[in-house]
Amino acid sequence: MGPPCFFDAMNKVFIQTYGCQMNVADSDEMFAHLAARGAVLTDNLDEADTVLINTCTVRDHAEHRAVSFLGRLNAWKKEKPGRVIIFAGCAAQRLGKSLQKKYPFLDILSGAKDIEHFSDTLNASGLFGAPGASGQQPAPGLTGYVTIMRGCNFACSYCIVPSVRGPIKCLDSHDILQEAARKAAAGAKEIMLLGQTVNAYQNGPVTFADLLNRVSEVPGVERVRFTSPHPIYFTPEFLNAVKENPKIARHVHLPVQSGSSKVLQEMKRGYTREVFLEKIRALKECGFNISTDIIVGFPTETEDDFQQTLTLVDEAKFFIAYCYKYSPRQGTPAAQMEQLSQKVLEERLDILLNKVRGLSDTAYQAQVGTVQEVLLETENKGRSSSNFWVKTKNSYPVGSIVRVEIEKADGTLLFARD
Ligand code: 5AD
Ligand code: SF4
Repeated sequence: MGPPCFFDAMNKVFIQTYGCQMNVADSDEMFAHLAARGAVLTDNLDEADTVLINTCTVRDHAEHRAVSFLGRLNAWKKEKPGRVIIFAGCAAQRLGKSLQKKYPFLDILSGAKDIEHFSDTLNASGLFGAPGASGQQPAPGLTGYVTIMRGCNFACSYCIVPSVRGPIKCLDSHDILQEAARKAAAGAKEIMLLGQTVNAYQNGPVTFADLLNRVSEVPGVERVRFTSPHPIYFTPEFLNAVKENPKIARHVHLPVQSGSSKVLQEMKRGYTREVFLEKIRALKECGFNISTDIIVGFPTETEDDFQQTLTLVDEAKFFIAYCYKYSPRQGTPAAQMEQLSQKVLEERLDILLNKVRGLSDTAYQAQVGTVQEVLLETENKGRSSSNFWVKTKNSYPVGSIVRVEIEKADGTLLFARD
């Protein structure tokens, strides 16, 4: 007999996830522990008994949204005493116990570093039953997310991640392969390997390239993706090890952050503008399509530095660029520096957004006339290996791969001749 369970009927869980794909995978993992205690998912907050908020703190705005959502749950909880609120992830790690003082109705706090112990946290709360053998778990869908490493050993001067997630821990490669096989057996055709600096993976003799190749050999796996890599690990050895394997998807989300070598050094990114451009040249030669993240308004960024970010965007021909205003994070070196005004940040963001707006359309146009393998996510729409959306004329079984010629592009959709 486990501790008493306070839910007479089925415990319905509403999940609100903020932030990156790692968080989405972490939410799934936390839900699996709840499901093992008889919980089921709901997308209706009104009928939920438990709310799990998985949070992000990478920028102040993300943290603010998560905390405001928590604040609004006060009324929700008052409606039915016995309802449970779990606040987890990166903002939970950063804000810690101060949250429980400010929001006394919060039941369970579980920081990003504690995700491996989430089952113990649930047991210690006394609010859920003991875990059973067979929790109902949602099927993974076409893409199965598999976490391969946690944490980050870099110390980028603007970034709070190393302090909330801690240093790198690489998971055992056998466990990773088993998890990929489990997801593939449950219907996933594509496996997305996840980690904060995913291509820093190394466990004993197993490198990141080895892992990609091995996952691609798991029965049922048609395609392998990964996110988010760091530029410095894209070495010629890596490219040699993966370039002959067509199951490794030809898309990389590779954050550059700035186009100025001076700012990159102050950010402690570990590469220059020239090195970054050389890395993406080599990746493109192997067929990789590149998207990126850019920060504007880092404290030491001059007008000239910002111009260099704009010219880098021209040279790199990114597929997509996600652009952010620099947000000072407590305890990071850059937060101690003299800050630029919000006005400058907003002006630069505006200029950059105008510049990147047309990138995707241009990249889509360049696909016309090529032949692509499309993994169908509906009967007539899917994604190519390099991550373009493609619509087919005919219908095919969901999850199958079809080889089609691209007839035309309209905005961010390609049309196949099939
Ligand atoms: N301010 C603004 N953007 C940030 N990012 C990380 N830290 C900050 C910060 N302090 C951005 C980076 C990263 C993405 C996930 O968030 O571009 O790649
Ligand atoms: Fe943050 Fe840099 Fe680590 Fe990425 S590599 S998580 S930006 S410290």
